[in-house]
Amino acid sequence: MQVKLARKRGFCFGVEDAIELAERSLSENERIVALGPIIHNRQVVERLEDAGLNQSSQLDEVDSDTTVLIRSHGAAPDVYQEAKDRSLSLVDATCVLVKKAQNVVSLLNEEGYQVIMIGDGEHPEVKGVIGYAPDVIVVDSEEELDEKLPKRGKLGIVAQTTHAPEHVANMIGAIAARPFRELKVVNTLCLEVVRRQEAAVELCQEVDVMFVLGGLHSANTRELARLCDEEGTATYHLETWDQFKPEMVKGHLIAGVTAGASTPDYIINQFADNLVDFELAP
Ligand code: F3S
Repeated sequence: MQVKLARKRGFCFGVEDAIELAERSLSENERIVALGPIIHNRQVVERLEDAGLNQSSQLDEVDSDTTVLIRSHGAAPDVYQEAKDRSLSLVDATCVLVKKAQNVVSLLNEEGYQVIMIGDGEHPEVKGVIGYAPDVIVVDSEEELDEKLPKRGKLGIVAQTTHAPEHVANMIGAIAARPFRELKVVNTLCLEVVRRQEAAVELCQEVDVMFVLGGLHSANTRELARLCDEEGTATYHLETWDQFKPEMVKGHLIAGVTAGASTPDYIINQFADNLVDFELAP
């Protein structure tokens, strides 16, 4: 079948840097543990585990002679403090854009703003970023605003780096419609994600069916799939070719392929090559 690839897809620089750092650290350290999956891609995590990168969700489970790897999503300041208190060596793979969001939250708090973060409170990036100021309020839907926002005062607003600009703009609009004395919005969105979203939406206009490849827990991949679906194009979010089923392309002539920022090229290329060779049974 005919297959078109999104002009922007797959690994972002933050994920590439994190993997490179993990690989280098593996060659330099005997015992190294990542605090949670280094990125949201099972295949990459498993490959690094095979190479010796263990994983732990809690710092207190890590032995004292171990090097700790902070993943691309970053971590809250208490994690750094605890590592320092226990004299653990740290390798920090936090993406520079997540670091920027952490710094912005801290600065907004110093400037006297009540910090609001638009994001998914369960996402590891958000859990880390909100540790950089006391009492940060996390909101992700307009319904939550009445319940969670204060009635007055001055608000400093940031967003989860991987959120869709349109959603963030709607949230900011809904906050701005309330009688706050002052709003300061700092754009913490990641352009890498935005470019992948634009390219995916563009490709939807040229294809009958879209495949969005990436970890099922990857927020930016799920967002890509949601946007393609919203375009009215039949959309499937898969991790690899193993999950492909012939009925997904039945009645379709042209397929589009895109991938989240933590999906390696070999998964995308393998999928696209298989799809090109795929022929529906008569
Ligand atoms: Fe960083 Fe953006 Fe990638 S925040 S990890 S460059 S998706």
